[in-house]
Amino acid sequence: MSKILPPGVLFLARVLPRLFSLPLLVGLGVHYASRRAGTKVPVWATLLLASASLPVYLVYRNLRKNARHRAEAASLGARFVPLVPSFGVGNVGFLPQMAWNRKFGYPGDGMAECLDATGSPVVNFRVLWQDIMFTTWPQHIQLILAADSGNYVKGERFQYGMDSVLGSGVFNSDGEMWKFHRGMTRPYFARDKISHFDIFDQHADDVIAIMKQRFAGGYSVNFQDLIGRFTMDSATEFLFGVCVDSLKANIPYAHNVAFPPPQSHDARAETANKFVEAFNEAMVNVAEREHLGFVWPLFEMFRDKTAAPMKIVNAYLDPIIGAAVEKKRTAELLKKEAAAEVEAETLLDDLLQSTSDPKVLKDETLNILLAGRDTTMHVMTIVIYFLSIYPDVCTKLREEILEHVGPTRRPTHEDIKDIKFLRAVINESMRLYPSVPFNTRECIHSTTWPSPDPNEKPLYIPAGSKTPYGVFFMHRNKELWGPDAEEFSPERFLDERLKKYLLPNPFQFLPFNAGPRICLGQQFAYNEMSFMLVRLLQAFSSFTLDEEGFAPEARPPKDWKNLPGRKGKDRFRPALHLTMYTQDGMWIRAKEADPMI
Ligand code: HEM
Ligand SMILES: *[C@@H]1O[C@H](CO)[C@@H](O)[C@H](O)[C@H]1NC(C)=O
Repeated sequence: MSKILPPGVLFLARVLPRLFSLPLLVGLGVHYASRRAGTKVPVWATLLLASASLPVYLVYRNLRKNARHRAEAASLGARFVPLVPSFGVGNVGFLPQMAWNRKFGYPGDGMAECLDATGSPVVNFRVLWQDIMFTTWPQHIQLILAADSGNYVKGERFQYGMDSVLGSGVFNSDGEMWKFHRGMTRPYFARDKISHFDIFDQHADDVIAIMKQRFAGGYSVNFQDLIGRFTMDSATEFLFGVCVDSLKANIPYAHNVAFPPPQSHDARAETANKFVEAFNEAMVNVAEREHLGFVWPLFEMFRDKTAAPMKIVNAYLDPIIGAAVEKKRTAELLKKEAAAEVEAETLLDDLLQSTSDPKVLKDETLNILLAGRDTTMHVMTIVIYFLSIYPDVCTKLREEILEHVGPTRRPTHEDIKDIKFLRAVINESMRLYPSVPFNTRECIHSTTWPSPDPNEKPLYIPAGSKTPYGVFFMHRNKELWGPDAEEFSPERFLDERLKKYLLPNPFQFLPFNAGPRICLGQQFAYNEMSFMLVRLLQAFSSFTLDEEGFAPEARPPKDWKNLPGRKGKDRFRPALHLTMYTQDGMWIRAKEADPMI
């Protein structure tokens, strides 16, 4: 993307000539033809013909495309994906509807109605004559992500929108570029980095100290905010070897605390906080582009909305990356004399084995920060929410943890692997509220997907279709998980339900994706979350929700109450940018564990 011209101007420069070239040609054609024929066509008629030419051409092109699709579907022995009920011409009414839902609805609102109306787990949204095949069916997602992954890409449009923040990093590239980035990042995650536990331990202590202090003063804490700081401090430390210390900055009080006690300012932490805020803002802005679709540049007519926050992000990161590159250079010079191997400590050190290009290094580390931070924060927030509203689960989990690790000892890798119920609680939380509930790909070559009903013909997917998929719906489908699919029941990952539902069909649970682009940090995330949860349950014996602590507009609306499923049951408001989070956080209190037990 150009740094000089704003996205909107570039967009118009690309689109306007395409829009006006046909009417212009037709107008000129009519003008000169009539002149040569010696007749005079009035100006209004010329203008009318010229302006009608574009819609006529578009309709013609669309009819031709439809005919081609019918023929291709027939030759593949396939049927069309059910169309959603129409929202006006070109289905454009669907867009404001979805925008409203994103702002005020529950995740999946709008799409749920489409799935219900057609009775099909896969539907075609077909907005502006573009096929958008939204699937929630495990076999289709398996094809997209794993079995036929070569036929699907993130696509240029997705990358163009993300480019000003994520560049060509692993999360935002396809093909050879993606292979290059994945290849240089993978080794770090393949190694067993025991030292991470040192990083987690120190920040976990900080979190618990803040919680204890707040509870002692009678205040609740925003667990999402605190744990977001924990994941940010941990991530920056293992990525760059420099911790942003966001846990040392001012920590917010709930909206209903009239006179929050003054907090001491740690100037360094506040600067770092600015980095965190700018990073968040940039993420929110690129997510908005994805939601607006290909016309997003029109909403950034005069300025690139990510430019200002990225300036702050860059000002923070550039010196860190510069210093690391310099250190590597010096080490290489020394090595010639003293052959001393430099042990790669941080992910940045590790990446430096593959490249010294500061832009590549920054793209890659920012991609990992994006991929790893909010996702992990969200899952831990949901776990603590469920432990708050289901105290029996909390008690059982705590007993298992104390049995394996005791009340104070620092957990090891082995402990964490052994506490099966802990992993089941984490899995169950990610099943109901996955960090990446919706995702999207584009299909390169025409193909077919098996029909969910095996007695029906397969489904036709034309080349160039968008293929968004919703693990959110798949994870809650009663056909796949049984009648209690909407209940929080971690035991389903351990008891007879595991054999009955999940084991025969492992692709119905995909919190980390699957196939060649499966989450690189899956193991890391389980370790980080498990470590923190063990520490929390050693320190506290129970959690409660502080519903008053949530700002009124962040509480679930009254008319959701008693609706079926989790939408009617849960007491927070889930929201989405690139990943899921909860509006205004998660305000909780906890009871300190009795140190004698
Ligand atoms: C509970 C926590 C996490 C969840 C639920 C999660 C989930 C996901 C998902 C669904 C994707 C696929 C995105 C896509 O292809 O469009 C992904 C990709 C990725 N994740 Fe995670 N993630 C988590 C934590 C982490 C952590 C801690 C890291 C690193 C420190 C990480 C690094 C990555 C990377 C680098 C990718 C891109 C892989 C590629 O495209 O080849 N993730 N993650
Ligand atoms: C949790 O889910 C993962 C898949 O992400 C699976 O490999 C693991 O066996 C599950 N563990 C438990 C205890 O549920």
